[in-house]
Amino acid sequence: MIAVYDLVKKFGDFTAVDGLTLEARAGEIHGFLGPNGAGKTTTIQMIAGLLKPTAGRIVVNGYDLATDTEAAKASLGFIPDRPFIYEKLTAGEFLRFHGALYGLNGNGVGDRVAEMLDLFELREWEDELVESFSHGMRQRLVMSAAFLHRPRALLVDEPMIGLDPRGARLIKAVFRRMSERGVAILMSTHTLEVAQEMCDRISIVVKGRIIARGTVEELQRMAGSPDAQLTPVFLKLTGGSGLQEIDEAF
Ligand SMILES: Nc1ncnc2c1ncn2[C@@H]1O[C@H](COP(=O)(O)OP(=O)(O)OP(=O)(O)O)[C@@H](O)[C@H]1O
Ligand SMILES: [Mg+2]
Repeated sequence: MIAVYDLVKKFGDFTAVDGLTLEARAGEIHGFLGPNGAGKTTTIQMIAGLLKPTAGRIVVNGYDLATDTEAAKASLGFIPDRPFIYEKLTAGEFLRFHGALYGLNGNGVGDRVAEMLDLFELREWEDELVESFSHGMRQRLVMSAAFLHRPRALLVDEPMIGLDPRGARLIKAVFRRMSERGVAILMSTHTLEVAQEMCDRISIVVKGRIIARGTVEELQRMAGSPDAQLTPVFLKLTGGSGLQEIDEAF
């Protein structure tokens, strides 16, 4: 599970995350939706341990991130929105390096790296430098790394950006299988079709606060819109389409 309680992050006077409580349970794919600048990446970076919360509590698989930091991080897989990969490593080196960071050494790790390279169709690129990789290949490599140590919870910031249809289908299937095996997944996305298709529950954040939470059907009811598509529901809940401004500007 991934849970945050009353999480706050201030940058100077500006409050980016404003008392946010949220839980992705074991076996649940939980969507984290909201407009640009709502505080999704900031929240995700705090859960990943990259940013220190101003206040609040973060628990990953029962481990408090503040006190059981190592255990919390070891049980978490993280796919950032802007991954950093050492350009001068090969794909294989990157994965083995990443594995070592998670304590994967020795005999098993080679097999596991090969398994991930096969799954993400990168096997023929194993000995190529990352600097020669396309955007989508980098995405797939970062995902290989995130799954390497069999995390019990997965934290994902915008997984679908830049993936081709085959890659997107693969990653959806992987997420589904992981959730069936009991992995908790917290996933931010702007791709509402993906959210609608994949998420058991969705939390919508606006200005650092959760303004709505529920299944797709519950959100539709909240918006008073029986519409099958999530986009109009999202726009209604988060306030307006912006189309009127276009009319005025042109
Ligand atoms: N290091 C920082 N210093 C100051 N302000 C920041 C910093 N990081 C984020 N912010 C601000 O916090 C707010 C939330 O940003 P965040 O990146 O979490 O949004 P987001 O929901 O991920 O948006 P997007 O959908 O565009 O990815 C924004 O107003 C942003 O400018
Ligand atoms: Mg973001």
